[in-house]
Amino acid sequence: MTAADLLLTGAAEVVTCAGSGPARGPAQGALGVLSRGAIAIGGGKILGVGDEHALRAEFHAESTRVLDAEGGVVLPGFVDPHTHLVFAGDRAAEWEARLAGTSYLELLARGGGIMSTVRATRAASFDALLANARRWASRMLALGTTTVEAKSGYGLDRATELRLLEVARAVGDELPIEIVSTFLGAHVVPAEYRERRGDYLAELEALHQELGARGLARFVDVFCEEEAFTLAETERLLRHARGLGLGLKLHAEQFTASGAAELGAALGAVSIDHLEHLSAGALERLAALSAPPVAVLLPGVSFHLAMNAHPNARGLIDAGVPVALATDFNPGSSFTPSMPMILALATRNLGMSVAEAIVAATRNAAHAVGLGDVVGSLEPGKRADLIICDVPEHRFLAYGFGWNPVRTVLARGERVVG
Ligand code: NIG
Ligand code: FE
Repeated sequence: MTAADLLLTGAAEVVTCAGSGPARGPAQGALGVLSRGAIAIGGGKILGVGDEHALRAEFHAESTRVLDAEGGVVLPGFVDPHTHLVFAGDRAAEWEARLAGTSYLELLARGGGIMSTVRATRAASFDALLANARRWASRMLALGTTTVEAKSGYGLDRATELRLLEVARAVGDELPIEIVSTFLGAHVVPAEYRERRGDYLAELEALHQELGARGLARFVDVFCEEEAFTLAETERLLRHARGLGLGLKLHAEQFTASGAAELGAALGAVSIDHLEHLSAGALERLAALSAPPVAVLLPGVSFHLAMNAHPNARGLIDAGVPVALATDFNPGSSFTPSMPMILALATRNLGMSVAEAIVAATRNAAHAVGLGDVVGSLEPGKRADLIICDVPEHRFLAYGFGWNPVRTVLARGERVVG
């Protein structure tokens, strides 16, 4: 018999989100809800999920601790697969100006937008960046996120980009939250390279080499967009990164239909993110692939910027493309660390059911960061990252908004919040 370190009992529901591979089509809405289920945990992993009596018989020993969920709902910890966690400064004044009618392009012309965060970030010390990122990662953890992807991209020079990735690594070392790092040196072309873009691309390629060698990033991302990188530049950078064994992600079709989503799929990207302007034809062609990348949708952006551009979540799910949800946490376009808030937005603005949104924020999000075999569902062998929510049933996760439903967070079987 394997003795459990911990037996979690007394849950109104255990929501497993179990299944192999990313959930596609109707499977995206299949949550796996066990009424009054229990979970046995040992060595930081899940040993068993099911009926309490059966688990007690199989895993209980004298040394086993019992944690009573007190009628709450147990779910896998959220995986937030797209954030810009590390930065300095804020854009509160710019946000207010945008709501008052100033356009994105006017702000850019004034040197605002991403570039204003780049200026603040370049001027910040490692310790100041770490303090800010630690504070936001702690808030994410309290809101139930146990794995978070963190992009660089507010440095746009070698030293600062490396500093951002080192800060992300330090946050993961300090806090019980798994950080998955992504290099987004291709966020925009910095002013000093505007007249010699090729030199910037070469600089990025040199950095790919360095990151790979130092294990500082698992993925490379490119913002493929009119004011950022062209499709041809995106392809060059992604091919180069792939050649070095780095995984690929993509900011695709956010403001214009560029073809980036299909490029990402063709190159084997693990996810294609945003997709507000994905064309109907591109959607169909993605759905026809045997294993399309995970579409990471970011409903916080339209909400934060009071815009009415939404990705076609319904069309993607119905056609069989796996959908994940993320906060896109950043100071410019989506200033929230809250996955529960994203569930609230996805169900109201993207036409997703509660069940689809929960699977999108757990199992499919784990696949979107290459950790689908490790986290994202409550199944034997998976890491015991889970949350206990102070709600009577799982629909409350999206039904409510603006309050934190998460009471307790377990990371690798240890209680880290609540
Ligand atoms: O995901 N699209 C580009 N990057 C971010 C915005 C970052 C910013 O405005 O600072 C995004 O929305
Ligand atoms: Fe983003």
